[in-house]
Amino acid sequence: MLYKSLIRPVMYRLSAGDPEDAHHWLMDRLAWISHYPALLKTIEVANAYNSPGLARDVFGVHFPNPVGLAGGVDKNGIALPALAAMGFGFIEAGTVTRYAQPGNERPRIFRFSENDALINRMGFPNDGADAVAKRLSRLPRPSIPIGWSIGKSKVTPQEEAIEDYLYSLRKLHDFSNFFTVNVSSPNTPGLRKLQDKEPLDRLLHAVVQETQGISSEKGTTPKPVLVKIAPDLTQEQIDDVIEVCLARGIRGIIATNTTLAREGLTRSTSEAGGLSGRPLHTRSLEIVRYLCQTLDGKIPVIGVGGIFGPDDARSMFDAGASLIQIYTSFIYEGPGIVKQINKSLDKK
Ligand SMILES: Cc1cc2nc3c(=O)[nH]c(=O)nc-3n(C[C@H](O)[C@H](O)[C@H](O)COP(=O)(O)O)c2cc1C
Repeated sequence: MLYKSLIRPVMYRLSAGDPEDAHHWLMDRLAWISHYPALLKTIEVANAYNSPGLARDVFGVHFPNPVGLAGGVDKNGIALPALAAMGFGFIEAGTVTRYAQPGNERPRIFRFSENDALINRMGFPNDGADAVAKRLSRLPRPSIPIGWSIGKSKVTPQEEAIEDYLYSLRKLHDFSNFFTVNVSSPNTPGLRKLQDKEPLDRLLHAVVQETQGISSEKGTTPKPVLVKIAPDLTQEQIDDVIEVCLARGIRGIIATNTTLAREGLTRSTSEAGGLSGRPLHTRSLEIVRYLCQTLDGKIPVIGVGGIFGPDDARSMFDAGASLIQIYTSFIYEGPGIVKQINKSLDKK
């Protein structure tokens, strides 16, 4: 309530020129709050919905509830404690790249409020793996699972992509409960080509081997590696992804990232980038259903794309998802949506 009646209007006013200003305004405040346990507690009391019935173990990780924050909100890990206090069951942080990079030119986020949608072409702006790891070593770690999403730096040539991913993985290893290999952002040239069978196989083989190597050095169990895929893949391409994931010991598939399609927008636009929010839901759901049917429980699936309330969440679980994530609805609706979904799941 407070979010829609007060915080969101202030953010919209502050960001009349560029919606990204609203994002930074909010993240800066959440970063500040993250240092004060009493403030975190206040946020938690107002927002979190705890119930033992919502907890689950997926790919060897314990989740207090199945509603996660999707990749891209906290790219640099500046506000994880405050975001966790909003009631999420887990957070996917990042996407982080080996090298610090500014991302694409602004403006690069566009609101389509009438359709509950966004188009973004951020291009992975982030502080780089070294700086992020340094920051995390000084910040309190939230009690919920944190997965770091890793991607390829723009300056890195395609043929050196693997080393780029491995570098970030090594740097963030101690701060992560799982990793997501992001090969599905439409905003880094060539990134989605890494979803093709052979490059994907090489990349995932290397990443999984690296986690195994690190864990045998440390005497721990290897951190689960997940893959996040695009909604624009054909069925044949999805079949290839499934084959590679099964062969390489991938522990989860996140479906989906943003789409290049523009169906569902009522206003015509020529803005480049990935579309998220309500118009994406049907396609993401279709992919989650296909993945779950084909995988038949061999690898869990995390459903993401246009989840705006309990009904959308329920359809993802009915399609076979083990966990869900939200991004755009969190921006439009505020943290209340997490509680609303969890409450309704708890009743069923
Ligand atoms: C502004 C913006 C930035 C994003 N950045 C990332 C990112 O860095 N890494 C990533 O894996 N996904 C990123 N995403 C995609 C979301 O994680 C999610 O997959 C997608 O938006 C669909 O979910 P939604 O409809 O709930 O937003 C971003 C989405 C938006 C809108």
